[in-house]
Amino acid sequence: MRGILHRYGDLLPLTEATPRLSLCEGQTPLIPLTNLGSELGVDLRVKFEGANPTGSFKDRGMVLAVAKAIESGAKAVVCASTGNTSAAAAAYAARAGLPCFVLLPAGKVARGKLAQALIYGARVVSVRGNFDRALDLAKQASEELGLAIVNSVNPYRLLGQQSAAWEICDELGDAPERLVIPVGNAGNISAYWAGFKKYGELGQTTRLPEMIGVQASGAAPLVEGRPFDEPETVATAIRIGRPVNAEKARGAVGESGGRFLSVTDEEILAAQRLLASREGIFAEPASCASLAGLLKIHEGEGLPQGQIITAVLTGNGLKDPDAAMGQSSTMVEIDDCWQSLREVLSR
Ligand code: F0G
Repeated sequence: MRGILHRYGDLLPLTEATPRLSLCEGQTPLIPLTNLGSELGVDLRVKFEGANPTGSFKDRGMVLAVAKAIESGAKAVVCASTGNTSAAAAAYAARAGLPCFVLLPAGKVARGKLAQALIYGARVVSVRGNFDRALDLAKQASEELGLAIVNSVNPYRLLGQQSAAWEICDELGDAPERLVIPVGNAGNISAYWAGFKKYGELGQTTRLPEMIGVQASGAAPLVEGRPFDEPETVATAIRIGRPVNAEKARGAVGESGGRFLSVTDEEILAAQRLLASREGIFAEPASCASLAGLLKIHEGEGLPQGQIITAVLTGNGLKDPDAAMGQSSTMVEIDDCWQSLREVLSR
């Protein structure tokens, strides 16, 4: 069985006592956007993290965080989440036989993610407050009750997430010239940057990408340089006003010569429709912020011809059926006879 701990064990802090936990996460497809890429005049690929076992990139870091929690003798894990972290935590905890507590912002978690946390058997606590408050409470639970916290304040999460950058380099034969990625709590962009730098140090790559971090305009603390006390966006996964990894992410973007930018909910949903209808790829709204950001750069200043770009699609579109249904054309219902069908098909 091959997962992150097996394939990249040499680059991760494993000991003999670390259980080799796996749901065969990672090795997600790097899909060329043949239609949109040629229109934009660039070599554009998407890292489709929705193909991970729980449908998001969170599996990469969670497998290591839970394995390390077991190694250290933890009796249970806890996290706050906008949905994907909780799905991954619940799945890996179930696999490892550990109880899992998840704190979710009430009413703001996509249905698929909630269904996952419940069916994997986590204790789900709905907090009347936003993600940032839920995370404060999860930290407190960790301190007061000795539960292992598996949010990205846990260093093993970000170490495991570096594997996505390594996979991209392994497949391209070098780092991309530009990486575009959605940003919420700012852990993933920091992990990618650390991963690219690590591969550079190991002589596996010759260049580092320019890092472009994309936030939703209603939850854009890194773009505007101030906390958002009441973050709001259709991309609930990145509805975060006080990113815990803000400093690391600023460092990554600054060192790489990149930038943060924000996109509106309309731009996010337009990018989601475009990706699905032109390329056959269904990603959740937060993921599509990356493509929306790239389109914005294209409109504003253009893209260098032929540039090698990777956009990260962090989560599967099936996670949030309501976001898709809300903007798709309605279906047609007919009587069960050929005449009715013929009428519809010839319209
Ligand atoms: N995309 C998706 C689909 C996410 O679920 C998240 C974060 C991000 C992007 C942003 O990544 O936080 O590392 O900057 N989701 C977290 C969660 C907050 O609880 O599932 P980040």
